[in-house]
Amino acid sequence: MKKGKKIYEGKAKIIFATTDKSLVIQHFKDDATAFNNQKKANIEGKGILNNRISEHILSSLKKVGIDNHLIKRLNMREQLIDLAEIIPVEFVVRNIVTGSLTKRLGIEDGTVLNKPLIEFYYKNDELGDPLVSREHVDAFGWASTSELNFIKEQCLRINDFLQGMFIGINIKLVDFKLEFGKRKSDGKIILADEISPDTCRLWDADTEKKLDKDRFRKNLGNIVEAYQEVARRLGILHEQTSNVRPIKFPKPTAVKIKKK
Ligand code: TMP
Ligand code: ASP
Repeated sequence: MKKGKKIYEGKAKIIFATTDKSLVIQHFKDDATAFNNQKKANIEGKGILNNRISEHILSSLKKVGIDNHLIKRLNMREQLIDLAEIIPVEFVVRNIVTGSLTKRLGIEDGTVLNKPLIEFYYKNDELGDPLVSREHVDAFGWASTSELNFIKEQCLRINDFLQGMFIGINIKLVDFKLEFGKRKSDGKIILADEISPDTCRLWDADTEKKLDKDRFRKNLGNIVEAYQEVARRLGILHEQTSNVRPIKFPKPTAVKIKKK
């Protein structure tokens, strides 16, 4: 199995073909974007941490029967994954109200929801990933009713598992985003993309300190330090990973914004 041509480049990851038509390589970049690409930066070491954290989470999910695209991590920045045709919907699961939900509906930041809320966003950068209803998902054929029911069930099972996993390391899982796709080899709907501090909101359970990409979105600084903290608490911060970047954390204002 050899690495082939680049077939897709997203904001934080690159997909490469392999000599096996049903497998691809997912490469994690250090690039970070927010507010639909309006804010950009290169955060040294972020890709390595997300590769490691996402590998840990997806392989743990596989062990409890949540099928997903991960085959294995190949190196510091890359993992071998099943090729899947991504459903153009971002599935956001919320346990605590914050972020765009507070902005859109004025519900107080930090309100704990009685049960998890699942939202659908149309995955389209030009339109800024707008919120859509399940009727839109159906009308435009992004997923069938039975596929959508299956995905919602998977979202709730993933939420249950992750909430437990994170509370065990004193972290509140506030909300997160999932992507699903149709696996090329068997046509099955599977969890894809990544689950990392880039795609979750994670708050320290005692202090509510943000340990996720909100540190970048809100210019809070110490982004890599926060991601390392998550990895350390998950028990996966190998010497290899912690050595990538000599521990010298930027001050809150020192995040380099690279104009592209
Ligand atoms: P939101 O409050 O901005 O809608 O974000 C909800 C969750 O989804 C939060 O954990 C961050 C994650 N997310 C992504 O992973 N990618 C995105 O493009 C957006 C907008 C949010
Ligand atoms: N990933 C999105 C963007 O680039 C937004 C976000 O994560 O906040 O713009």
